[in-house]
Amino acid sequence: MTRKFFVGGNWKCNGTTDEVKKIVATLNQAEVPSEDVVEVVVSPPFVFLPLVKSLLRSDFHVSAQNCWVRKGGAYTGEVSAEMLTNLDIPWVILGHSERRALLAESNEFVGDKVAYALAQGLKVIACVGETLEQREAGSTLEVVAAQTKAIAERVKNWDNVVIAYEPVWAIGTGKVASPAQAQEVHEDLRAWLAANVGSDIASTVRIIYGGSVNGANCRELAAKADVDGFLVGGASLKAEFIDIIKSATVKSA
Ligand code: 13P
Repeated sequence: MTRKFFVGGNWKCNGTTDEVKKIVATLNQAEVPSEDVVEVVVSPPFVFLPLVKSLLRSDFHVSAQNCWVRKGGAYTGEVSAEMLTNLDIPWVILGHSERRALLAESNEFVGDKVAYALAQGLKVIACVGETLEQREAGSTLEVVAAQTKAIAERVKNWDNVVIAYEPVWAIGTGKVASPAQAQEVHEDLRAWLAANVGSDIASTVRIIYGGSVNGANCRELAAKADVDGFLVGGASLKAEFIDIIKSATVKSA
């Protein structure tokens, strides 16, 4: 079983040109484990993608935070998967809970987006996760499985998919899932994949955790067997993102 550790930085709707240049300069100077040990992907807002791509060290990669569900055209304000591939942007984050909740993206819509983006040659960080109400009602796995099922029904090849488990109650709240809570969902989701998609896919697809990950809690989370990395929000804008990248070494220790 070789699942390369994956650390994504989701910058969300943050940054000015100067701030972006500073973050990239910090990343470029950092001493981190090699690409054989950790895959690092940062996701600036669309408007900064070309700038970040042009300045960023070559062992780190960039991701968009969204793309349109189908071929481009008369969709004011949208950015298509074709445009991302045209700019050599390798990755896209799809189904983030902020978009599911605020922009009413359904499981099916997210599934369609994932399938279309993959078909255009993009690699996808597909986000799933339950709300606090859903967790307290005991339906965490049901929710996460339904979100994953909508993707599984539309996707045959999972080579270019990373699943980000991001419990909504842990995002931007400072309330991180405990390592045991994260491990439990990752393990359950992997078992669901084994039963419903295929055991080979279940054992190779990376399931990363997101929600209040920081420099202080990353190593304990990284030590869990089914945690294959992180999708980091707030801390990805700070120097501690380097420490989170370095937590990859917990796996090889
Ligand atoms: P925070 O790390 O700020 O909680 O955000 C997590 C997230 O939403 C990453 O996509």
